[in-house]
Amino acid sequence: MLEISDDEFVAVRDLIRDRFGIWYDDQKRFLLLSRLSTRLAKRGVETYRSYVQFLRYDPKREEEWNDLASVLSNNETYFFRERAQLKALAGSILDEFRARSSRLRLWSAACSSGEEPYSLAITLIETGKIADSMFSIRATDISPRALDLADKAFYRALSFRATEPAMIQRWFRSEGDGFVVDDRVKRLVSFGRLNLLDEPSVAAEGPFDAIFCRNVLIYFDKPTQKRVVESFAKALRPGGYLFLGHAESLFHLTDLYEPVVGPDSIVYRLRTAVPA
Ligand SMILES: C[S@@+](CC[C@H](N)C(=O)[O-])C[C@H]1O[C@@H](n2cnc3c(N)ncnc32)[C@H](O)[C@@H]1O
Repeated sequence: MLEISDDEFVAVRDLIRDRFGIWYDDQKRFLLLSRLSTRLAKRGVETYRSYVQFLRYDPKREEEWNDLASVLSNNETYFFRERAQLKALAGSILDEFRARSSRLRLWSAACSSGEEPYSLAITLIETGKIADSMFSIRATDISPRALDLADKAFYRALSFRATEPAMIQRWFRSEGDGFVVDDRVKRLVSFGRLNLLDEPSVAAEGPFDAIFCRNVLIYFDKPTQKRVVESFAKALRPGGYLFLGHAESLFHLTDLYEPVVGPDSIVYRLRTAVPA
């Protein structure tokens, strides 16, 4: 693997943090280098010093940032992840939304290869409480590679590690060594590319009744986590919900939301008035 000096490591990781929020601390130095090494090889760049210059000034730098977005993050995901939260959505939260009578809009804000937004669509359909025409799911990510997989909607066994076989039978059709999402489910989800640090674009996506931003804040440093969850407040309807991953929390981060504790899950509701 190519040598990197301490200064070069700091320069490249800060550029990445500023662009995507993803934070590589000193312990993740090796991980970052192994992810970057393929990019340097592809670009024919021979030193990290030149690569940093490339990312800063090269006319093709935006192309490189696009490609980097697909290699820098962990895209680990699967259907019906953190099922207790999905149950909370299908239960009292959905009842609350239906009382408002407007069309329901959900956002899977770091959707990876699509398992999360498709799970949301299936969960809502299966409640039998809401017509397809009364809800839609927006799904975004920074990784072009992950979004490409999401759009293909073809999945193999690993994606179904928490899915009951009956559910697979109902909502997927078998194809080769995997399964494709049923068209009824696919129609409910629209995919797009969005960087969570792009605050005007985040606000413009709204308004949503609920935002799912699960298992991504853990890769950000604290100031970026705060910035992102506070920008979600501008994309949520009053009283809207924010769902985070089980290893993530708003504790000591912001008081714009109040925790709503359910059986086996915590979700956050946007406060209508911020406490003094
Ligand atoms: C571990 S996956 C989580 C997928 C899904 N939310 C789940 O919980 O199963 C994290 C995703 O966050 C995306 N991501 C990382 N930084 C991002 C950013 N700045 N803007 C948008 N998406 C980002 C990655 O590309 C990756 O697909």
